[in-house]
This record gives sequence, structure tokens and C-alpha cells, in this order.
Amino acid sequence: MTSPAASPPPRRQFYRNWLTLTGLVVMVASLFAFLLLFVMDSLARGSNPYIGVLTYLVAPIFTTMGLVLVAVGLWLARRKLIRSPQGRPGSLVIDLARPRDRRLLGGFILASVVFLLITAIGSYHSYHFTESVTFCGEACHTVMEPEKVRYEHSVHARVSCAECHIGPGASWFVRSKLSGLYQVYAAAANKYPRPVPTPIRNLRPAQDTCEQCHWPQKFSGNIVKTYRHFLSDEENTEYSVRLLLRVGGGDPQRHHEGGIHWHINNHVEYVAADDKRLKIPWVRYRDERGELVEYRAKDFTNDLAGMEIRKMDCMDCHNRPSHRYETPNEAVDLALANGRLDRTLPSIRAKATELLVQKYPTVQAALDQIEKELQAAYPDDARTRTAVAAVQEIYRQNFFPLMNADWRAYPEHIGHKDWPGCFRCHDDQHLSADGTRKITFTDCNTCHVILAQGTEAELENLSGAGQPFKHPEDEYDPAYLCNDCHDGGP
Ligand code: HEC
Ligand code: HEC
Ligand code: HEC
Ligand code: HEC
Ligand code: HEC
Ligand code: HEC
Repeated sequence: MTSPAASPPPRRQFYRNWLTLTGLVVMVASLFAFLLLFVMDSLARGSNPYIGVLTYLVAPIFTTMGLVLVAVGLWLARRKLIRSPQGRPGSLVIDLARPRDRRLLGGFILASVVFLLITAIGSYHSYHFTESVTFCGEACHTVMEPEKVRYEHSVHARVSCAECHIGPGASWFVRSKLSGLYQVYAAAANKYPRPVPTPIRNLRPAQDTCEQCHWPQKFSGNIVKTYRHFLSDEENTEYSVRLLLRVGGGDPQRHHEGGIHWHINNHVEYVAADDKRLKIPWVRYRDERGELVEYRAKDFTNDLAGMEIRKMDCMDCHNRPSHRYETPNEAVDLALANGRLDRTLPSIRAKATELLVQKYPTVQAALDQIEKELQAAYPDDARTRTAVAAVQEIYRQNFFPLMNADWRAYPEHIGHKDWPGCFRCHDDQHLSADGTRKITFTDCNTCHVILAQGTEAELENLSGAGQPFKHPEDEYDPAYLCNDCHDGGP
């Protein structure tokens, strides 16, 4: 056979195939769409999650698909050519002396640079977009609405979702994107649980998230907080408490170590008997001399086999730093305290709370019912309209019937009034092995001192040494824990 080099088969045949041409069209179209959307997204004020999804997820997927089609088409065409009578194509010869080759090469290099540049900008923005609050909180609107709304009302409203849920580093980034793929599927296929379960299994430990901003050794000292409440009587009598919380700190080198943040530095570990971590029958910590101190609930004789021992971190108390659902009780008390609800409406505290604890099928049904009942309770009263608006606002901000999300689904571990919280361990029922020590509850002053209590006027009357707690109801029995009676409802 004579050498085919004399008349090499035209290379053009390579890309003249349907796959490659389709790929090229898809690529060019999606690149163009990307550029257009990118400009729109950059010019628009406030980003729209759907433009974001199109620009930074859908368009790049199409560009990649186009690229793959082009490559597969070229490969198939080449194989076909090799098998054809013409045989193996000659190797590519670029002769820079030929003006046509120079132009083609120049064009190719320029096109590659532009393409790489667009890809770089695109992937940079895609990365940022999938980490953004817009993407996490808005793209699958119904599912994340409760978390997003509560987040916007929290102290951390300026901290992005990813800073707490992913944190720095490549491995958690990859993990989150993998589980994210499943979540996108679950949302699209309508297969997600309602409410979204809590606590989050495999949440990243606080050292890598909270402690990127909060210095655990910081000594917070004492913090004064006022808890304002009203009774469910006709006069909506005020009953508030002003506490000095002994938050303390966890750095033995700088300060007396102790107070509530004592747990951070003392390697406290525990075992939970339920999914929500509301029952904690076993606790241990390492004391100053390095010895392990162990406490057990009286009736807990299990040898811990197969139970997960968890090290206590910030999230075991601050489990609602950014998605805190107010209880009806608390939300109504707050509205009464700051005047959004008129305190002079008889029994408004009881009435409003009662309306908020009902279950409603939709938000609209709730808003209608609230209006109807309040109009019926206070007919022809000029104060009714503002009361309706205030109670409806509380409902909109804290209740999400489509996701079954409200305070009932998400217990908070700080405090001890409406949920067990600190009392999961501090209940006087957790004893050391020899029975001589217990984790205290009845010694209220370990955690806080009551500076003042009662009505607004009485709140000004501070006592440095602290006062014994005066519970408003006579039938109060200190043998019960607070949350045996209180649950956030009326
Ligand atoms: C300040 C840190 C922080 C920020 C910011 C944050 N979260 Fe969370 N998130 C948490 C913690 C802590 C939990 C509860 C973890 C637990 O108890 O296991 C949680 C829980 C959740 C849950 C599970 C349901 C629940 O309420 O327990 C979802 C869903 C969620 N977050 C979504 C988001 C979204 C969406 C954003 C952004 C709009 C966001 N988070 C921002 C800290 C944060
Ligand atoms: C990106 C930084 C950042 C991260 C991450 C972060 N926080 Fe914060 N946090 C802040 C800032 C800033 C404030 C103060 C906000 C203010 O006062 O307006 C704050 C305030 C707080 C407060 C005081 C709340 C109050 O009512 O005054 C608590 C408690 C807290 N954070 C706990 C946490 C926990 C728990 C985590 C981890 C789940 C966490 N934070 C993660 C920045 C962060
Ligand atoms: C044993 C439970 C517990 C643990 C564990 C805990 N905290 Fe706290 N923390 C509290 C309580 C109680 C307060 C008082 C404020 C309140 O009641 O809302 C508080 C207050 C704070 C404040 C506000 C105080 C200030 O100086 O402004 C910050 C910030 C804070 N905690 C961050 C953290 C971080 C970060 C961690 C983990 C390294 C952590 N906490 C671990 C119970 C705890
Ligand atoms: C293990 C620590 C601890 C012990 C012991 C303790 N408390 Fe508290 N208590 C707290 C914390 C923390 C809060 C603040 C919760 C918050 O910020 O939401 C609190 C809040 C309160 C409040 C205000 C609650 C509200 O929402 O209005 C009252 C009242 C109170 N405690 C009474 C008592 C009494 C009475 C005792 C003793 C029988 C007691 N506490 C024992 C930790 C403790
Ligand atoms: C997982 C169990 C557990 C939980 C939950 C818990 N604690 Fe503790 N706490 C302990 C143990 C154990 C000790 C040490 C008791 C001892 O041996 O004296 C302790 C000690 C303390 C002390 C005394 C520290 C010192 O100065 O020596 C304070 C104050 C305290 N806790 C406050 C709280 C508050 C407030 C909460 C709720 C926000 C809380 N704890 C939740 C287990 C727990
Ligand atoms: C035996 C049941 C019972 C126990 C235990 C109990 N309470 Fe109450 N509490 C009540 C009742 C009933 C009211 C009156 C409710 C009303 O009029 O709205 C009330 C009212 C209150 C109020 C004012 C109104 C409100 O609903 O916020 C506070 C604050 C309060 N209790 C705190 C506590 C604390 C803190 C503990 C634990 C140390 C506790 N209670 C234990 C039954 C109880």
C-alpha cells in the first residue's frame, strides 16, 4: 500500500457529526445563557434564589454536558474513521509558516482563554452561591421556611447558614455537598420529613463552628436578664423575674473557673436515652485532679453497652442559637410587655395564648380564626384591631403548619421552665456512685440569683444577696420540676 500521508483524510470530518455539533450548540447556548443571567443577577438588587439556581447550577451543568457531547462525538467519529477504508487519519501538522495555521491557532488559544476565564468566574460564583443564605434558606422554600424565618429573628441573622452547618475545610465541604444532593432530591420528590428532625445527627462539633467566632475561654462574668411574664387572670397581672445569671467562664489561668460555662472546660460527657436528648441518665466529668466523677439517675443500671457517649459542647445548651421558636406563652408576654398587645383588654393574655396553641391546617386558617375569635371576644372595641394584628403577627413568625414546625417540635435546652433543659442532669436525682453527691437543682443560687421579682415597680427593688423564689400560684409545689406544669402553653 502506498503511504496515505500524501492525501490525509480531511480532519474536518471529525467534528462534522451530529453529537459534536449538538454538543457545540448546547455549550455555546448555555455559555450565552450563563453570561446573560450573570449580568442580570449582578445588576438585580437582592438576589433571587431561582436566578441563582439557573445561573450557577443549571447553566454550568449544560455547559459541561455540551463539552462531554463534543468529546464523545469526536471520539466516535475518529473510531469510525479508523475502521473505514480510508484508515487511520494522519497526525496533525501545524506549520506556523502558513498564515492560515497561525490564524487558526491564535483563534483557538483566544477561545480557550475566554472559556477558562468564564469557567473560573462561574465556578467561583457557583461555590459561593451554594454556600449562601439565599440558596440554603430560600431555594427550597417550604422546607426551609421555618428555619429561615426564625434565623432572621436571631442574633445570628448576619452569620451565614454555612458558617454553622458546614464550617471551614474541604472534607466537610464535600460531605455537605453529598448530603445536599440527597436533600435536593428529597425536596424535589416531596420526600422530606415534616418537621425536619432535630437534633441533627453528625452536626459538626462546636469547636469547628461556634468556636471560630466565640472564644470558649472568654470570661462572661455575671449577666443580668429580665424575664417578663403576665398571669392568665382577668387583669393580666404582671409577674416578672430579674435574674443575675452566673455565666462565668472556662479559663482557669485567667479567672476563677466556674459558673455556668464551667462545663466547657471540664470534659463533661453524657449518654442520652432518647433521640431528642431530653433524658440523660448518665453523666461524668474529669475533676481538677484528673479523676473521673460519675453520676447516674437513680433507676439507671445499664452498663452503657451500645450507647453513644457524647461530649457536651455549646450545642447541648445553646441548641437554638438561630432557630428559636417562641412559645405562645413567651411570645404573648413579650407583646404585652412592649405594648403591641394592649394590657387593658380583660383576659387578653389567656385568650391570645389559647388561640395560639390550637392546631390549624394552614396559616390562612389560623389568621382567620384568630380574627374571628378576638372580634367575638371583644366586639365593638377600638383596641381589637391592633390585638388581632399583634396575635396574627406572632403566629406568622413562629408557626409553620405546612412543616409542623413550632415550639412543640423543637425543645430548647437553656433554662428549665418549659423544657427539662438544665434539669436533664440538675434534678437532684443524679447521684455519684457512693451516693454522697448529686447534681443540684434545689440550690437555685448555683446558677442564678433572683435580684427582684413581681410587678414592674417591684422589679426596681433589687436585692444583692438574692431573694427566695416567690411563685405566683399558691398551689405551687417545689417537689415538682417547673416543666411538669409549664410547657409554653396557657
Ligand atoms: C449560629 C449558627 C447557625 C446558623 C447561622 C444557622 N443554623 Fe441551622 N442550626 C444550628 C443549630 C445549633 C441547630 C440545631 C442542632 C441540633 O440541635 O442538633 C440547627 C438546626 C437546623 C436545622 C434542623 C432543624 C432544627 O431546627 O433543629 C435546619 C433545617 C437548619 N438548621 C437550617 C438552617 C438554615 C437554612 C440556615 C440559614 C438560613 C441556618 N440553619 C443557619 C445553627 C445554625
Ligand atoms: C461567624 C461568626 C459566628 C458564629 C460561627 C457563631 N456566632 Fe454566636 N454570635 C456571633 C456574634 C457576632 C454575636 C453577637 C450578635 C449581637 O450581639 O448582635 C453572637 C452572639 C451569640 C450569643 C449571645 C446571644 C445573646 O442573646 O446575646 C450566643 C449564646 C451565641 N452567639 C452562641 C453561638 C453558638 C452556640 C454558635 C454555634 C452553633 C455560634 N454562636 C456561632 C457570631 C457567631
Ligand atoms: C451548660 C450549658 C452551656 C454550655 C455548655 C455553653 N453555654 Fe453559653 N451560656 C449558657 C447560659 C445559661 C448563658 C446565659 C444566657 C442565657 O441564659 O440565655 C450563656 C451565655 C452565653 C453567651 C452570652 C454571654 C456573653 O458574654 O455575652 C455566649 C456568647 C455563649 N454563652 C457562648 C457559648 C459558647 C460558644 C459555648 C461553647 C464553647 C457555650 N456558650 C457553652 C449556657 C451554656
Ligand atoms: C442548673 C442551673 C439552674 C438551677 C439549679 C436553677 N436554675 Fe433557674 N434558670 C437557669 C437558667 C440558665 C435560666 C435562664 C434561662 C433562659 O435564659 O432562658 C433560668 C431561669 C429561671 C427563671 C426565669 C424563667 C423564665 O423564663 O421566666 C426562674 C424564675 C428560675 N430560673 C427559677 C429557679 C428556681 C426557683 C430554682 C431553684 C429551685 C432554679 N431556677 C434553679 C438555671 C438554673
Ligand atoms: C449533661 C448533664 C448536664 C447538663 C445538661 C447541665 N449540667 Fe451543669 N453540671 C453538670 C455536672 C456533672 C456538674 C458538676 C456537678 C458536681 O460534681 O459538682 C455541673 C455543674 C454545674 C454548675 C457548677 C459549676 C461550678 O462552678 O462548679 C453550674 C453553675 C451548672 N452546672 C449550670 C448548668 C446550667 C445553667 C445548665 C443548663 C443550661 C446545666 N448546668 C446543664 C452536668 C450538666
Ligand atoms: C405545680 C405546677 C407548677 C410548678 C411545679 C411550677 N409552676 Fe409556675 N405556674 C404554675 C401556674 C398554674 C401558674 C399561673 C399561670 C397563669 O396564671 O398564667 C404559674 C405561673 C408562673 C409564672 C408566671 C406566668 C407564666 O406563665 O410565665 C412563672 C414565671 C413561673 N410560673 C415560673 C415557674 C418556675 C421557674 C418553676 C420552677 C422553679 C415553676 N413555675 C413551677 C404552675 C406551676
